[in-house]
Amino acid sequence: MKIEPFGVEQWMNAWETKCDLNLAETCVASLTLAELMQMAGTTQQMPADLAAMQMTYGEIRGSARLRGLVAAGFAGQGAQNVLITHGTIGANHMVYQTLVGAGDHVVAITPTYQQHTAIPRSLGADVTEVALREESGWLPDWDAVAAAVTPATKIIALTNPNNPTGALIDRDGLERVSEIAKSVGAWVLCDEVYRGTEQHTPVPSIVEVYDKGISTGSTSKAYSLAGLRLGWIVGPEPLLDDCEVHRDYTTISVGMVDDYFAAMAFDAKDVILERAHDITRGNLAVLDAWIGAEPKARYVKPKAGTTAFVAFDVPMKSYDLCVALLQDTGVMFTPGSSLGVEGYVRIGFACYPEVLKAGLAKVSDWLASQGWRR
Ligand SMILES: Cc1ncc(COP(=O)(O)O)c(C=O)c1O
Repeated sequence: MKIEPFGVEQWMNAWETKCDLNLAETCVASLTLAELMQMAGTTQQMPADLAAMQMTYGEIRGSARLRGLVAAGFAGQGAQNVLITHGTIGANHMVYQTLVGAGDHVVAITPTYQQHTAIPRSLGADVTEVALREESGWLPDWDAVAAAVTPATKIIALTNPNNPTGALIDRDGLERVSEIAKSVGAWVLCDEVYRGTEQHTPVPSIVEVYDKGISTGSTSKAYSLAGLRLGWIVGPEPLLDDCEVHRDYTTISVGMVDDYFAAMAFDAKDVILERAHDITRGNLAVLDAWIGAEPKARYVKPKAGTTAFVAFDVPMKSYDLCVALLQDTGVMFTPGSSLGVEGYVRIGFACYPEVLKAGLAKVSDWLASQGWRR
C-alpha cells in the first residue's frame, strides 16, 4: 500500500527535539503518571491491583470497565458501542480500512488531520476535499458539502473541534451534515480527539445526532495522556464487529497497562478536565491579547481545541517563516503548508503558560527586529 508522507508528523519529527519553546504541540501539557495517580487519589507507589495484573492480552475489545467509562461520555451509548484502539490514529485507520475500498468516495472537510484524506486515497477511494475558509469562521459551507456527495460516498469526514483552526461545529451543523450523509446513505466519521477542550459550552458528539455517526477519540489531548496511546471508536455495534475483523490482524488488543491507567484517568475525569480547561482557557486569553497587540497577526479566535490558525502579513511562506523562527528564536510553530494551507501558521497554545508567554515574547522581539511590529 502506497501512501503520501504525513506533512505535520514529518515537521514534528524534524524539529520537535531541536526547539527550545514548543508551540507546535497539540496536547494539553502532558501529565506524569505520578500526577495522574495523585489526581485519582491513589496513594500507593505501585497500586496493588496493577502489581497483581497478569500480563495476558487482556480483554480483546478493551476492558469492559474502560469501555463503560468511555461510553458514559456519550448519551445513549453503552460499553457495547465502544472499541478500544491504539490512539485516535489507530481508530481512524481502522474505520477507513473497514468501510472504504477502491471505487468508493469520501468527502473530507479540510484542513484536517491528514489521515482523513491520505488513508482513503491510499485505499483506492476518490476523495473530495471541501475547504474551510477563514471568512466563514473556518466553519463548513454545508451547500458545498451537499454538492460534493454522490451515491458512491461512503464517509463524510470531519474533525470537531477542528485541528488546526479551533472552530467548533454546533448541533445545527452536525444535524445538517447528518442529513446530507443520510441522503446518500453515508457515514459521518467525526474525529473528536479534541473533545473536552471547549472554551465555553460543549457540543454533542456525532453519535448523539446521527445513527450512522462514528466518533473517534483518545486520552491524548484533553486528558493529557498521549503516552498511553489509548483511543476508541464509538459507534453502532455491527460497525464495531466489522472493525474487529480488521483489528484482529493489526492490534489483537491494546496494552493492559494502558487500559488500566486510562480507566484511572476516567475516574479522575473531573479534575483532569478542569485542569485542561484552566490551561486552554487561560492560555487562549494570553494568545488573544498577543494577537491583538501584533499588527501583522490575525486569526479567528478558536472556540475549542488546543491550536489556533494564525495569518502573518509578512512576505514569507509559512515554512520559511517557521524555520526562521526556529533558527533565530528557538520557538516552534507549525507551517500551514504542512497542513495543506499556505498563508497561516498553527500555534499550539495548550502548553504550560510560562512556555507560551516566553515563546510569544520571543516572536514579538523577532518581528520587531524584522521591522514588522509597526
Ligand atoms: C485531529 C487529530 N486526530 C487524531 C490525532 C492522533 O491522536 P492520538 O494521539 O489519539 O492517536 C491527532 C493528533 O494530533 C489529531 O490532531
